Amino acid sequence: ATGLGQLAAAKGKYFGTALANNHLGESAYATVADREFNSVTPENEMKWDATEPSRGSFNYTGGDAIVSHAQAHGQSVRGHTLVWHSQLPSWVSNGGFNSSTLTSIMQNHISNVAGHYQGKLYAWDVVNEAFNDDGSRRQSVFQTTIGDSYIATAFQAARAADPSAKLYYNDYNIEGVNSKSTAVYNMVKAFKQQGVPIDGVGFQAHFILGQIPSDLQANLQRFADLGVDVALTEVDVRMQTPADSTKLATQSSNYNTLTKACLNVTRCVGITVWGVTDKYSWVPDVFSGYGAPLLFDDNYNSKPAYTGVSNAFGGT
Ligand code: G3I
Repeated sequence: ATGLGQLAAAKGKYFGTALANNHLGESAYATVADREFNSVTPENEMKWDATEPSRGSFNYTGGDAIVSHAQAHGQSVRGHTLVWHSQLPSWVSNGGFNSSTLTSIMQNHISNVAGHYQGKLYAWDVVNEAFNDDGSRRQSVFQTTIGDSYIATAFQAARAADPSAKLYYNDYNIEGVNSKSTAVYNMVKAFKQQGVPIDGVGFQAHFILGQIPSDLQANLQRFADLGVDVALTEVDVRMQTPADSTKLATQSSNYNTLTKACLNVTRCVGITVWGVTDKYSWVPDVFSGYGAPLLFDDNYNSKPAYTGVSNAFGGT
């Protein structure tokens, strides 16, 4: 690897990006992705709506393309994601299944999808975004139909399907110590005590400019102390657009801080930014008036934030 991936590797970490199949044909996109990153996460291609759009009918076209691109460029792959309330086809969310049927549907989905990629992925985000900000469980169809136990059941199915993938719980707004992160912490602690197979916690890290939690590193460390790996899995730092030099300097400092937080935690295995270029970030579509959250601008020029990361890794 070259670029940030190489700098991270020299420190025993990876530096990754979300990768979207539909942009890989754009040469600048692929050039930057392959130069800078030694890990990739499919942005949408391994989600339930893509992989099992109708019951028992599996489609791996997009995910396979990401995996083969990654293999050709020496990048490891984080699978994303097996069980999530969003991008979940309506045949699952509105199917009216009872608990035992929905459990079988979930286990069958995991066994097929994780089984298809068995041995090819570094990690899986097994369950994504299962908690509310107050620490209660999100009322997804899995939660309301099966109850709390669906998460442990999902991890067991994932371990059976792909014993070599690191199995992660992944969520947002858990980067600092708060009600939500403490609820996740308590679940992970219980899983370790009960022998539920969990290997890591992913902290999405969708940050707002100037609002990196001051206890980010301490929070990563408290999870690591439970005996799991930790990773920053979907990093971006959004600002009100248009960007200016002051905001870009703050963003650089924020990226420097979050990179150092991972570097300072032995069990923090790596960092993934949620996209290659500001041009294709999800942020402006969801947060009106916000954008410019990544390391490369719309023209694939590196931003001050790039230097913030590279300096943290000891680059020049
Ligand atoms: O594929 C269709 C296309 O056929 C259609 O023409 C087009 C019109 O809107 O939509 C396309 O689907 C979009 C899809 O991305 C692929 O581009 C969806 O509308 C859009 O909602 C979807 O957004 C994704 C979002 O997850 C959905 O929840 C983003 O790309 C993706 O970055 C985002 O990623 C999530 C993580 O998985 C979990 N954590 C939060 C993060 C940000 O929301």
